[in-house]
Amino acid sequence: MSESVKTFCRTTLMLGLLSGASTMALGADKIPAIIEQVCAACHGLDGNSVIPTIPKLAGRHPEYLLRELRDFVAGTRKSDVMGAIGPTIDAGDMKDIAAYFARQTPTSEKITDAAAAAVGEKIFQDGNEERGLPACAGCHEPDGAGTKRFPRLAGQHREYLVEQMMKFRNDVHTNPGARFMRTVAKRLTEDEIRAVAEYMSAK
Ligand code: HEC
Ligand code: HEC
Repeated sequence: MSESVKTFCRTTLMLGLLSGASTMALGADKIPAIIEQVCAACHGLDGNSVIPTIPKLAGRHPEYLLRELRDFVAGTRKSDVMGAIGPTIDAGDMKDIAAYFARQTPTSEKITDAAAAAVGEKIFQDGNEERGLPACAGCHEPDGAGTKRFPRLAGQHREYLVEQMMKFRNDVHTNPGARFMRTVAKRLTEDEIRAVAEYMSAK
């Protein structure tokens, strides 16, 4: 992450945590209020973050989003930002927050490097049998839309995708869901990781 994004994250995090403390008495408007006051500055009100290192949540399966929130709270998915925010969310609200983001329409990015995207497409759709690399499509679906077990990758920011692949590769995430990805990411070169991210971001 660049220094300016880090500063933005820290400032937004503090603002979010301060306002989060006052969401207790909001009644029926509680969920929209939490999203607007705590999540939107980073993930966008419609779940389509415009910050390349912060993931889009729009259109991701609600069960996946819920599971990740719980993993941040458990500390097995490591993130300074989400590790601090996760525990401030009332466990009973998590399901509704996940459902809200899942209902939003996801946006896509544009291809900036067609040659890399072509390399990425081949890896994503076919994998590489000789190297024991499974096709990403086998789990994440051929269109990258994902399922409840395997997250949507289509339209996600390429920078975020690359960052996550590097975290899997370096065994940063130890949540149960990351087990497959830690193996998969170690079988890709950094150039291949960038290529798959280029392809997926524009789906
Ligand atoms: C200060 C910025 C910031 C705020 C505020 C914030 N997030 Fe995040 N969020 C992030 C970052 C950065 C990541 C990526 C974490 C990582 O590297 O694993 C993330 C990741 C996530 C993920 C995992 C997405 C995926 O594709 O795996 C979920 C779910 C999530 N955030 C939900 C929320 C919710 C719900 C709120 C509000 C209650 C919120 N976030 C507030 C920055 C933020
Ligand atoms: C055996 C099934 C499987 C295969 C094959 C697979 N993945 Fe995954 N992938 C997963 C699971 C499960 C997760 C969710 C990890 C978690 O719960 O944190 C995931 C998560 C991811 C994420 C993080 C998404 C986010 O929003 O944070 C990226 C990026 C990713 N996979 C890329 C790939 C790529 C690229 C390939 C092909 C080279 C691939 N995956 C192949 C199962 C798979």
